[in-house]
Amino acid sequence: MHRGFATVPGIQKVGVVGLGLMGHGVAQMAAAAGYDVVGIEMEQKSLDVGMQRINDSLQLVAKRNVKKGMDEGAAAAQVTETLGRISASTDVHALKEVDLVVEAIAENKDLKLKFYEQLGGIVKPGAIFASNTSSLQITGMAEVSARPKQFVGLHFFNPVQMMKLVEVIRTDHTADEVFDTMLAFGQSIGKTTVSCVDTPGFIVNRLLVPYLSQALLMVDRGEATIEDIDVSMQLGAGHPMGPIHLSDYIGLDVMHSILVGWQKDFPHEAAFVMPKCLEEKVAQGHLGRKTGQGFYTWEGDTKL
Ligand code: CAA
Repeated sequence: MHRGFATVPGIQKVGVVGLGLMGHGVAQMAAAAGYDVVGIEMEQKSLDVGMQRINDSLQLVAKRNVKKGMDEGAAAAQVTETLGRISASTDVHALKEVDLVVEAIAENKDLKLKFYEQLGGIVKPGAIFASNTSSLQITGMAEVSARPKQFVGLHFFNPVQMMKLVEVIRTDHTADEVFDTMLAFGQSIGKTTVSCVDTPGFIVNRLLVPYLSQALLMVDRGEATIEDIDVSMQLGAGHPMGPIHLSDYIGLDVMHSILVGWQKDFPHEAAFVMPKCLEEKVAQGHLGRKTGQGFYTWEGDTKL
């Protein structure tokens, strides 16, 4: 069937596992590009929250389209059409017939390995698996999946709807045609793709996380206020958000667990330093935007 979208041949049905901060955005972008999407969460409550996030974001997109001149009815129809392509389930067996699984579950190595051990027996043999991990090795997951040739990293950025990049990660096992299909998939959902080997943090996080932790080390040393550090990088370097604002936005628990994992696996890498103020915030449960309190106070997605 011709849908009027440039979807990738061989990929029609996409499973997205985990509809949290990243997964809901991936599901939305894939559905908006014309793919049939199966969204999976283990708990009904998380599934409802994920679907609500997609709905809210689609309303923002529709509002922006109307502002740009689109007819209100057409914008509303686009929302309905996109939502209509997404089915949601708490049963992982709903992934049986998908052509591609994008996994965006919690950033926990044991959890992901356990997930991939079972996924191979559930999803049809030809399907491709892609992990949205931001810091874990892709190779280990590929090797337990029983289909290492059909396994890549597909790393999106937050907010997925707005950030134009996706990193496509290949391991030594990834088949050329699978890698090319994933580059094409990223482009088909409106992203610019870059490729990288399976190295810690790939391109963006390998550069971004040490930069963010250096900003927090300045806080540890009492060299400048968090506001002055942030405004400096916004106005002096043209970044949309300063580093401490961005750390809160990403999630201080995410930053913390990335650094803990890297320090364990790469003890001789001098760039992977844990700031004391980050450890303290996480111990207090002040995780940034998601808890309403981090280095800043938040109301929803807005820093006060
Ligand atoms: N869905 C749809 N639209 C959205 C949206 C969403 N989830 N989030 C924001 N928008 C829209 C807003 O509605 C707004 O639209 P209008 O211009 O029509 O009003 C537009 O985006 C701009 O938003 P804001 O006015 O609220 O704020 P902004 O101009 O500062 O943009 C931002 C917000 C895009 C997040 C920008 O601040 C930014 O680029 N920040 C840096 C984000 C970043 O670095 N992300 C990478 C994090 S690292 C990562 O993700 C990797 C990892 O593994 C840890």
